[in-house]
Amino acid sequence: MTSKGLKVPDDITVPFITGDGIGKEIMPVCKAVVDAAVKQAYNGNRSIEWLEVMAGQEAFKQNGAYLPDETIAAFREYLVGLKGPLKTPSGRGVRSLSIMLRQALDLYACQRPFRYFYGVTSPVKYPDRINLCVFRESTEDVYAGIEWPFGSEKGKRFGEFLLGELKEEKVRFPESTAFGVKPISREGTERIIRCAIDYALSHNRRSVTLVHNGNIMKYTEGAFVNWAYDMAEREYGTYLSSGRLVLSGITCDAFLQSAILHPEEYGVIVTSNLNGDYISDVFAAQVGGVGMSPGGNINYETGHAIFEATHGVASDIVGRNVANPCSLILAACMMLEYLGWKEAADLIVTAIERTLRQGITTADIADSFKHGNCVGTKEFGDALVNMMTSGTRVIR
Ligand code: IPM
Ligand code: MG
Repeated sequence: MTSKGLKVPDDITVPFITGDGIGKEIMPVCKAVVDAAVKQAYNGNRSIEWLEVMAGQEAFKQNGAYLPDETIAAFREYLVGLKGPLKTPSGRGVRSLSIMLRQALDLYACQRPFRYFYGVTSPVKYPDRINLCVFRESTEDVYAGIEWPFGSEKGKRFGEFLLGELKEEKVRFPESTAFGVKPISREGTERIIRCAIDYALSHNRRSVTLVHNGNIMKYTEGAFVNWAYDMAEREYGTYLSSGRLVLSGITCDAFLQSAILHPEEYGVIVTSNLNGDYISDVFAAQVGGVGMSPGGNINYETGHAIFEATHGVASDIVGRNVANPCSLILAACMMLEYLGWKEAADLIVTAIERTLRQGITTADIADSFKHGNCVGTKEFGDALVNMMTSGTRVIR
């Protein structure tokens, strides 16, 4: 989905974080594939200048900071960037760098499209029924990080306030409880719902499904649902009454079952942060795993966006040239679409479709192929470039 109002020059600078672990293997492959697609799609009239910015282990080694200020500043300045996987630094109180980045730039819409590529191994019978996009709010909820270690000063004071002043009696073991807070706001809810609905309208989808736990957490998840319906009535009333748009709600437990039994019933899903984390992986598992699933973290008002591989650093396979670069490459396709460079994105997606159809895959998704041709990370990238530039079948 293109960001409205974004003015994109023909030659752009894209800051990128290589990432930890397999990031070093998949990022160069991804850049090569994107460069080839842009060149091919626009005959050399458009180009990307890649600007490496540091984060993660490498950044820590070089300047003692996992997420240097200059990195955030670069994403702020250039608006749109790409990111490989980052290892969450070990140690108490150190937060996930991915979450820090989302919060620093207020990238509230965590957008994850899921589709099936023919031939990829899947644990379900009809993975091709999955073709949908999840919108996960990603600045609020229990994920916002408002919680305190048991025994800490703030933790104690919060407990005293809750049990004392508020006379809350539902804490089962008041002497030994750690606390966290779940913030859900009307603004936060409305902006993510707007994204989901705009996406549905611009992608010819009719149904937007609100996934929530509003039956139990009435004043947070329940408020999310109420604010969503109110806003939709106010701002999209004509689409709702004409039937062009159908907004419905389902509780998360029932949805997770339905996501496996009837995924074809869903087009656009919108949900709060924690539910969104679970839901994303449930769909990823069905289409080949997180290795096949891209993500975008976007603020549609400011235009800031960071597209990312949704998997981790995969320490067990580092340095072996076996990692699947598709999550990152598909994230780069989301980035190209966001920039309005859809032709280049389409070229890559078609190349992935054709390459996988020929049974050329990385090891993680290979075993379902009868005549599979398992290749390395770099060779998979070469096959994609070959497919795009030759415009014909790759002969191996
Ligand atoms: C994801 C990941 C992250 C998240 C972790 C690594 C913080 O699981 O992007 O889904 O939960 O957002
Ligand atoms: Mg996750």
